[in-house]
Amino acid sequence: MERIAFFDTKPYDRIWFDKLNTEYDIKYIDHKLTPDTAAAARGCKAAVVFVNDTVNSETIDELCAVGVKLIALRCAGYNNVDIKYAKDKIDVVRVPVYSPYAVAEHTMALLLTLNRKIHKAFIRTRDFNFSLNGLIGFDLHGKTAGVIGTGQIGRIFIDICRGFGMNVIAYDPYPAKDTDINYAPLDKLFAESDVISLHCPLTNDTRYIINESSLAKMKEGVVILNTSRGQLIDSDALLQALKDKKVRGAGLDVYEEETSIFFEDYSSTIIKDDVLALLVSMPNVIMTSHQAFLTDEALQKIAEVTLANLGAFFRGEELKNAVLYKTDKA
Ligand code: NAI
Repeated sequence: MERIAFFDTKPYDRIWFDKLNTEYDIKYIDHKLTPDTAAAARGCKAAVVFVNDTVNSETIDELCAVGVKLIALRCAGYNNVDIKYAKDKIDVVRVPVYSPYAVAEHTMALLLTLNRKIHKAFIRTRDFNFSLNGLIGFDLHGKTAGVIGTGQIGRIFIDICRGFGMNVIAYDPYPAKDTDINYAPLDKLFAESDVISLHCPLTNDTRYIINESSLAKMKEGVVILNTSRGQLIDSDALLQALKDKKVRGAGLDVYEEETSIFFEDYSSTIIKDDVLALLVSMPNVIMTSHQAFLTDEALQKIAEVTLANLGAFFRGEELKNAVLYKTDKA
């Protein structure tokens, strides 16, 4: 039985892997993969990793040194992997799609919660405070959603927005063919959208796509949603725009410095990241901890596809979910 190292394991990760795995001896490791922890994979042929594992050149060297031949991402995004460096050293596979519905639905949940202040109302009524002061929202119907990135998730989010009667404009350098999506240049999207939602990957082109200059082009009172990758937003610039009331609210499932923070319980610790602390403290910011994918359906699919990826690798078959340097847009 091949031994597999499974980094950054949380209880919810194990549910479907334990149910479906019959072929591998899985060594579940609680801590994240970094150059310092890679040696924990000694004796394993594959390392299963997630979004906040650090798979840089040093980690890749360490993994190779202890005999790991395959990095199996149990996620779609691979911006945390140095694909260029991995080329010809180690194979990398991923789960390209698990549940785009999970992420798109979570994005709308953030918007609805923020707009109708459900997070405030929940706390109030539990304290028998039935006042409505400060809870005014706006109708989504008739407002314009600007969607950046019209891949799997962006397109489902567009459908959801249309279900609410919103007008949708979108930007994507690779527009989807055979759709009725109303594409617009980025500056027009910034200028006309009441809500802007990010559904593009993190690449050199998209890093800090929301920054001081793009925020300046937006409507007063715009709502920003990010369920993609933290570094799509310059958090300092967003913080300032929230203070200036340029941005009415932000729904964030990701944060640019999340790697050492998200997925862990720091409730008894003083958070040293002032930007994070200020964002979380704002009544018009909802932050979730990279949770958008977390549905039963997505976890099952992640386990199924990862086990299939491992099977293809160990049987010497073609790796149809390989992440190849030549297709990397980063
Ligand atoms: P996808 O690959 O299907 O779609 C991405 C789209 O972004 C493509 O249409 C692509 O052409 C477009 N794009 C590329 N460069 C762009 C640019 N410069 N500006 C605007 N659009 C650009 O990816 P999918 O599955 O829709 O995922 C989107 C992102 O969601 C992922 O990259 C990942 O970062 C994030 N994600 C977050 C999860 C979470 O739990 N929060 C879970 C899964 C994905």
